[in-house]
Amino acid sequence: MSVTAVVGGQWGDEGKGRVVDLLGQDADLIIRFNGGANAGHTVMNELGTFKMHLVPCGIFNPRATVVIANGVMLDLEVLATELNEIIAAGVDVENRLLISPRCHVVMPYHKLLDGLCEEAKGAQSIGTTRRGIGPAFADKVSYNGIRLADMADDDVFRDKLETQLLLKNKLLEALGGEALDADEILTTYRERYQALVPFICEPFDIIQEAMAGGRRVLLEGAQGAMLDTDWSAYPYCTAASPLAGASAAGAGIPPTRLDDIICVVKAYSTRVGNGPLPTELHGEQGDALREAGQEYGATTGRPRRCGWFDAEVVRFTCTLNGATELALTRLDVLDNFETLRISTGYRLDGQPVSYVACDVRMLERCEPVLEEHAGWKCPTVDVRSFGDLPAAAQSYVERIEELIGVPIKTVCVGPEREQRFSRA
Ligand code: GDP
Ligand code: IMO
Ligand code: MG
Repeated sequence: MSVTAVVGGQWGDEGKGRVVDLLGQDADLIIRFNGGANAGHTVMNELGTFKMHLVPCGIFNPRATVVIANGVMLDLEVLATELNEIIAAGVDVENRLLISPRCHVVMPYHKLLDGLCEEAKGAQSIGTTRRGIGPAFADKVSYNGIRLADMADDDVFRDKLETQLLLKNKLLEALGGEALDADEILTTYRERYQALVPFICEPFDIIQEAMAGGRRVLLEGAQGAMLDTDWSAYPYCTAASPLAGASAAGAGIPPTRLDDIICVVKAYSTRVGNGPLPTELHGEQGDALREAGQEYGATTGRPRRCGWFDAEVVRFTCTLNGATELALTRLDVLDNFETLRISTGYRLDGQPVSYVACDVRMLERCEPVLEEHAGWKCPTVDVRSFGDLPAAAQSYVERIEELIGVPIKTVCVGPEREQRFSRA
């Protein structure tokens, strides 16, 4: 019997998708509980390479049921494309995919407003994925959202949409955009909704029964704790909480049922979008890390900003999440570096300072306290046990574990399923 949450411990893109694909092989139920099509979870397995945005990465286990739970913001267009891709690759989704009717839906005006607001903000922009996430979640919490359930009834859908267009067209036009036509949206969205009808089903009882029956349940988080609306460098965050705690409301699971919380972190730091990244490397070193890791966004293709591993941040996010273990990904990306650095903490105006004591302006001025480590200068992609890692790589991993105080139970040395090993 176990309920395990897999969440990001940094700024997203830690490798959650590959960890869920791996653990999903032994799970009965895999539930995505937050975020939307801003997420891009890469999975490489025997069927190919997939960039999953909404469908849980556990879909590749043919014996498992997967759920897109109420906490997820649905983009029907992205979902249709994603389903087509996995079906074409040979994945059977019939009777295995459940979509909560409580999911709110990203409408065309959300995407347009996301882009127009970003443009209007200029230098103050967040660097969003422009998937409409902020405006759609804003509508959800301000009682303006349209849920999948609302689309079941043509009249309800029309009424809700027409009311929203009264408001949204004013905004769109004020920001230099064009007003939208209700009939066009209704036609397209009804069609998209109809295609999903076989999958729409309230999953609450199924989830509770699975837990009561001792089935293995895996919760797939999107984004990373450093993008949480409350605990990040606001406003450089996303709109839905990526914390393990959010899985309770986002999937309808009592918080007392969570047995394990796996924080996924990469062996260095990356961030897409704007906002503080205290260990960021500029110039040649940053470029070297980006090229070694091919650090380009899975959703937008944007180059990711790169920096050294930030133990101050990961210590904080593991505490916040209640992490019971760490999965360390992308160790292999560091294979060719002569020397490596780990940030053990921050200094501000010469004084030690913790992440949590800093606001966004302080974080922008924080200096990382860097510790130097010898590189190992040899490939690790074929290593399948901790003892077979070069000594310098072993001490790098052990030092991270010591600084965070949470056991690193999985180490990944390549994007493919078998390129990893467990540590007891
Ligand atoms: P997610 O959003 O947390 O699921 O992560 P992304 O899929 O956005 O980004 C992680 C990237 O790293 C993907 O391209 C993965 O294929 C890749 N990846 C995951 N683990 C490893 C690893 O251990 N080594 C290498 N080289 N790549 C990895
Ligand atoms: P996964 O699940 C990395 C970032 C965006 C931007 C901020 C707000 O793949 O780890 P949004 O579109 O959410 O309004 O953008 O959040 N962001 C992510 N960064 N990985 C993600 O998801 C992200 N989802 C959002 O780049 O800085
Ligand atoms: Mg990603």
